[in-house]
Amino acid sequence: MEKKRAQWSSKLGFILAAAGSAIGLGNIWKFPGRAYEGGGGSFLLIYLFIVVLLGIPLMLTELALGRASQTNIVNTFKKLGYKQHSWVGWIGVIGAFIITCYYSHVGGWVLRYVFSYAFEAPAIYRDSLGYFYNMLGLHADGTTSIPWTALFFAALFMLLNAVVIIRGVEGGIEKFNKFGMPALFLLLIILLVRSVTLPGAEAGVKYMLSLDLGKVTVNTFFSALGQAFYSLSIGMAILVTYGSYLSKSEDMIKNTAVVCGMDTLVAVLAGFIIVPAVFATLGSGEVGKGGGFAFVSLAGVFAEMPGGRIFGVLFYLLLLFAALTSCISLIESIVAFLTEEFGWTRKRTTIILCLILFLIGCLYTCSQAAIPLKGIWYDGVNGITHPALCDFMEYLTDRIMIPLCALGCCIFVGWVWKPESIIAEVEQSGFRFRLAKAYTVLIRFVAPAAILAILILSIFSGVTLS
Ligand code: PHE
Repeated sequence: MEKKRAQWSSKLGFILAAAGSAIGLGNIWKFPGRAYEGGGGSFLLIYLFIVVLLGIPLMLTELALGRASQTNIVNTFKKLGYKQHSWVGWIGVIGAFIITCYYSHVGGWVLRYVFSYAFEAPAIYRDSLGYFYNMLGLHADGTTSIPWTALFFAALFMLLNAVVIIRGVEGGIEKFNKFGMPALFLLLIILLVRSVTLPGAEAGVKYMLSLDLGKVTVNTFFSALGQAFYSLSIGMAILVTYGSYLSKSEDMIKNTAVVCGMDTLVAVLAGFIIVPAVFATLGSGEVGKGGGFAFVSLAGVFAEMPGGRIFGVLFYLLLLFAALTSCISLIESIVAFLTEEFGWTRKRTTIILCLILFLIGCLYTCSQAAIPLKGIWYDGVNGITHPALCDFMEYLTDRIMIPLCALGCCIFVGWVWKPESIIAEVEQSGFRFRLAKAYTVLIRFVAPAAILAILILSIFSGVTLS
């Protein structure tokens, strides 16, 4: 007899877990930099437009696929009667696997920085780049060593994930998010108030509200599109898996809109924290994006800000919660696949999987500076190149695997399984899908065209997706 499948115990549990997956490092350290580059307010508008037009329908599609099939993403296609489309699911889990290898290590660095600001803030302020490199095993005299500190904290971060996941969907993931997400919002509000009340912050706030159309280019659209996908966790196995734990009596449209809304709210708030704080302390033009910015340049902001050390600890705690809840969703989707397909126990699967993910992740951390490991990449501008393994892992997932899996889902739903099936799934238990016609056009034509454009552009013009 089949075992009863795990389910979220409440609507709130699901919403917080899905929002926890979506709200991650992407929202807090990537979004503000991109918003700054795209002209502040004008980027926000474009981003909102994309979330509404593509983000919500695509998230709904993945969640509904999961809820209809009641299984992990690889098995979803088989269960719906289209085994030949399982490749989409495979890209999803393999992509989630690779992302987790590095996401968990970056999560470890974030954990390290919570302690760094608590105990070693002066050392960071003295030489933030040196401090960061030192953690990664590159020293001031040019010598390198194995980055034991970074690896140790990555192991600790992974352990936190494993503890939550072993406890299961309801007892672990749902419970953790019920505590982690409110904590995250509280930290956001504290940091927001600190940032916008800094002397000189108004210029940053104004910038974020200004419509500087001169800064908007075609790339701004693609930047917003890539950001929206990454930020909403679209194009990986995650949403299908989380949807599969959702009760049939839930209103999927409302839930999806709430999750997308929360994700966008956090990204926008992070923009209003970081941009004004940088304007007030380092001056405009210093807003950067990505890990280097979060670990290095932001130190200047905390050094200048009254009470900076405490706010530094709070900021990295915020990042830590964001990273944990996203990483948990990534690992859960692989665990769901392994336990269901091979019949392994949750505990054993989680322990072995986390160990493997951590070990592969060590190559990611070591290739930052300590060991010259390389990948292989091709793009239309630079031809064949050999980027550092760490960059290669990010390229491969952000630029190829995420859009490919998302495209596969759109084509499957739009043309094979048919939008009517999603509409029927959504309309279960008496809900009405008012925009069903618009959804059909979007999923069949607009979404695949937009995703195809990102895929081609990212390969041929070297434009980054994340
Ligand atoms: N959405 C997460 C973020 O914004 C990242 C993520 C991507 C998580 C894909 C899971 C799957 O950081």
